[in-house]
Amino acid sequence: MVQKMANHSKKAILTLLYEHKDQFLSGQKISELIGCSRTAVWKHIKTLTEEGFKIESVQKKGYKLMDAPDGLNEVSVSAGLQTKTLGRKICFYESMGSTQKEALRLADEGAADGTVVLTNEQTNGRGRLGHTWQSYRGTNIAMSLILRPDLPIEKTPQLTLLTAVAAADTIENETGLSCGIKWPNDILFDGKKLVGILTELQAEATYVKAVIIGIGFNVNTESSAFPEPIKSVAASLRSITGKQYELASFVQSFLAKFEFLYELYLHNGFKSIRPLWEQRALNLGKQIKVRQPGGRILEGFARGINDDGVLLLEKADGTPVRVYSADIEW
Ligand code: BTN
Repeated sequence: MVQKMANHSKKAILTLLYEHKDQFLSGQKISELIGCSRTAVWKHIKTLTEEGFKIESVQKKGYKLMDAPDGLNEVSVSAGLQTKTLGRKICFYESMGSTQKEALRLADEGAADGTVVLTNEQTNGRGRLGHTWQSYRGTNIAMSLILRPDLPIEKTPQLTLLTAVAAADTIENETGLSCGIKWPNDILFDGKKLVGILTELQAEATYVKAVIIGIGFNVNTESSAFPEPIKSVAASLRSITGKQYELASFVQSFLAKFEFLYELYLHNGFKSIRPLWEQRALNLGKQIKVRQPGGRILEGFARGINDDGVLLLEKADGTPVRVYSADIEW
């Protein structure tokens, strides 16, 4: 109990320091705002410093946050987050197997709509169609969103396409890179994958209990960190632009963009998202090879997507085929 309160105070102090990043906050002010003694403030500041936060301490002025350990931390995303619902509850883990697995568990236990599971290191990431997803400590973003939309099951693939638009728009806003989307939701630049998206459902017969959207962004990973088979198909933003990005503001920017598009979608339906997705679509009008779960391969022209987000393929003999789930090859 005492330990829990101490952690709560430490987190509250760190939040204040993040929210006043460019200014000093006096020990007195912090103790009043948090409701603990000045000695307790001093002790928490000392612990934060030991954890790797660089906090300048000047007599008569107080404390100022100068730098934080590499990667994300519990507070860096929540302080200054500009969303209404999404990310208002963040479950942060320094290291974990899979944010997706944890989000599924939390959703099952009743976690609120908009809860975000986030980690600095994901050791057992899951990908689409049974693939694995490689993450790199402190240089990638791995997170899962728990959503509870009032939607029929057949509409939920639209959320995958919406997520792809949110991810591509975030990359463009944060880095200036204009990425394309390979159906349904791979974000590519120069043919290499920058983001992976995995959508899973908790549902009963016709009713959706929760949609779990997992997103992995390759942000600051050096290209040399990608092992050989992955190197030829994946890239990071840093490997393309040569720049490093602040992970916390990247996450904040994505959550704000996602929430904006999600509200648009819930009010106006997929018709408001479809043109945004189509503008970035790489396959439309092209000849493609489709590898379906179970190994079945189809070839044909990608004619478009329908209002449910299903890919419409036209085989060489003119037969139309609806593709619900697959890996696309060029
Ligand atoms: C894919 O392209 O195959 C989808 C990859 C999805 C990876 C993300 S990272 C965060 C979340 N947690 C997981 O275990 N997987 C997703």
